Amino acid sequence: MLDDGDVVLHLGDCVEVMAAMPAASVDAIVCDPPYGLGFMGKEWDRPGQAARPTTTSVAKAESPFSRKAAEYGGASYGTDSATTGRFFQAWCETWATEALRVLKPGGHMLAFGGTRTFHRLTCAIEDAGFEIRDCLSWPSIRAAIMARAALPGDADDPVIPRCECTGEGGVDHRPRCREWHGFTADTFRGVVVLTVAHLDHTPENCDPDNLRAMCQGCHNRYDAPHRAESRRRNAEQARIDAGQTTLTPPEDTR
Ligand SMILES: C[S@@+](CC[C@H](N)C(=O)[O-])C[C@H]1O[C@@H](n2cnc3c(N)ncnc32)[C@H](O)[C@@H]1O
Ligand SMILES: [Zn+2]
Ligand SMILES: [Zn+2]
Repeated sequence: MLDDGDVVLHLGDCVEVMAAMPAASVDAIVCDPPYGLGFMGKEWDRPGQAARPTTTSVAKAESPFSRKAAEYGGASYGTDSATTGRFFQAWCETWATEALRVLKPGGHMLAFGGTRTFHRLTCAIEDAGFEIRDCLSWPSIRAAIMARAALPGDADDPVIPRCECTGEGGVDHRPRCREWHGFTADTFRGVVVLTVAHLDHTPENCDPDNLRAMCQGCHNRYDAPHRAESRRRNAEQARIDAGQTTLTPPEDTR
């Protein structure tokens, strides 16, 4: 536990940490729990894999799902999505129940979910006793940005979204990049596919000002420095995990 006087940070399994907290002591909860998709190959997000029906693989795996496996009455784990989905849902209900207990009456919780498993998350939260109030979904946020990218006034055909990059990616193509969604690209090989970039690289920040519909060329250029930095940090962490230390501080090795 870290306590700097303003903020207290607990490191641990959220269910255990919440269990040690008094009931009705929390004003609000904002959380981004695992989505149960094996996201980026991460063990903590791989209920299907970690929970295969052999006791050894369950005991060996480090994910929260496998650690809690025994607590779900020896459910028969499998690799089909319904089975892992039910397992994921049971795990969500466990932490959501604790969350409701520590939340003050009338308090709200905001929980992030993945597009393929949010239904399990939502049912689990409801089964834990919460009232579901609203749902903000990425497809609708994305649709709004694509509609903005297709605003009339800058093309003959206003319904086709156009790359919104004005130079954020490092190439000055003011007033705006000339790539149109679904058309053969002008500035690179292939067909243009617009995707929505988070300018601050924070997926949770879906403020429209932070989002830009971008073609592959602009999006890749924009993300390249961030990706290089993530690779450097991951490599550094892998060295630390392997018990090695660096001779110079990471910021000096760039
Ligand atoms: C979807 S990720 C959150 C990503 C985060 N919002 C970010 O932008 O980096 C889910 C996180 O929950 C953590 N986690 C998994 N099981 C947990 C548990 N039982 N208690 C607390 N944290 C857990 C994982 O280690 C992972 O970092
Ligand atoms: Zn572009
Ligand atoms: Zn650009």
